[in-house]
Amino acid sequence: MRVMSDDHAHVQEFFTARAAGWDGKFPDDGPAYAAAVADLRLRAGDRVLDAGCGTGRALSPLRAAVGPTGVVLGADLTPAMLAAAVAAGRDRESALLLADVAALPLRPECLDAVFAAGLIAHLPHPVENLRELARVVRPGGRLALFHPIGRAALAARQGRQITPEDLRAEPNLRPLLCRSGWRMTSYVDEDARFLALAVRED
Ligand SMILES: C[S@@+](CC[C@H](N)C(=O)[O-])C[C@H]1O[C@@H](n2cnc3c(N)ncnc32)[C@H](O)[C@@H]1O
Repeated sequence: MRVMSDDHAHVQEFFTARAAGWDGKFPDDGPAYAAAVADLRLRAGDRVLDAGCGTGRALSPLRAAVGPTGVVLGADLTPAMLAAAVAAGRDRESALLLADVAALPLRPECLDAVFAAGLIAHLPHPVENLRELARVVRPGGRLALFHPIGRAALAARQGRQITPEDLRAEPNLRPLLCRSGWRMTSYVDEDARFLALAVRED
């Protein structure tokens, strides 16, 4: 029997309460998701995972990027977020998995890329959890850590200050990715987007 951790229970409680209104809260984010997916430089036929896919806001641009011969998977821990994805018809463009990204039911090196929007702040063990994402991506494959708003703007929206310990600060994120099997290749943190790209090391 699998025992749910406190971390998982907290994530599920938080996002279950927000699932129904998630897409309506930020209705203008679509172009930012499409642009971030474009920066991942997927090719027709690629296999990509949306880790922490939530209601599946990235799934349409991911499907468009890999085309009908590609594979798009969306994995999320919160059933209510996946239910909202199904209600929006996003299960037609991807296979949705109720799964913890810390223990994916996927073979090693079976993917070309992982896209993760708004996920990293929720990971209880970032090094181990990012290493699990590296496990399922082939050497040379890519990772995008995205948020449709930059760190400073998000902190202001949430009424808090950015601290130097913030995982997504470049001086913290670069070594974190390195310890997890990734090499960061670009980093953008501006009001309108946060996007860190990395390549899976051999
Ligand atoms: C901020 S939301 C972002 C959802 C979606 N990616 C988007 O951009 O709209 C974070 C999502 O990550 C999921 N999540 C958090 N920790 C997770 C984990 N360990 N495994 C799978 N999903 C997780 C939550 O359930 C939630 O749906």
